[in-house]
Amino acid sequence: MITNFRNFILIDHPLIRRDMTVLRQVLTPPEIFREAVKRISHILAVEISKDLKTTEFEIETPLEITTGYKIIDEVVLVPVLRAGLGMVNGFLDIITDAKVGHIGLQRDEATLKPVEYYYKTPGNIDTAKVILVDPMLATGGSGTEALKFLKLRGAKNLIFACLVASPEGIKKIETNHPDVKIYGAAIDRELNNKGYILPGLGDAGDRTFGTL
Ligand code: PRP
Ligand code: URA
Repeated sequence: MITNFRNFILIDHPLIRRDMTVLRQVLTPPEIFREAVKRISHILAVEISKDLKTTEFEIETPLEITTGYKIIDEVVLVPVLRAGLGMVNGFLDIITDAKVGHIGLQRDEATLKPVEYYYKTPGNIDTAKVILVDPMLATGGSGTEALKFLKLRGAKNLIFACLVASPEGIKKIETNHPDVKIYGAAIDRELNNKGYILPGLGDAGDRTFGTL
């Protein structure tokens, strides 16, 4: 769906709206939360993989020879720890041969900037389509830094997939990484003074892993 943002693609779908309702509700327990994250990730993965390139090859059905297709683009998923982990299996259900990297960020208490504490990605990061996955795009600080760290390691073809985005976060990514398309399942109203998205769904990591 077209939005007022240059690089943001809102994936609006009745099943996503239903599952966003599950995620937003404060009483939803972690096991139900994780299932809803996975189902939304399936739909995002289908949308994001629409333009993957394929090549034709000959296959044999029980009746005759026909054309088969295989995907030639390589895909690397990179969840931002922790909450991004909740989206990985949903993406892998759809893009089954994607490789997976990991990036861990934590906020430095002095500077309030996200600092990388873990980084491991597959060797094809420079040639693959790299999908950064993180459910929350709030201030955009983590996304901006994660994309910067991936580019420093050679990633050139990057996408950011999130569940809930704030207008502030989208603007920050568009300003700092104008080459990166952002796919999201919802755009919410604003951030509160602690950087939480409103109405939002709370702390996605805590809600996924039950660490409230
Ligand atoms: C959440 C979320 C993003 C970040 C978004 O992670 O998963 O990584 O906040 O906020 P930002 O756009 O303002 O940077 P959090 O720091 O809570 O860590 P967690 O996943 O370990 O809970
Ligand atoms: N991180 C979260 O998990 N939730 C928010 O609303 C903002 C940042």
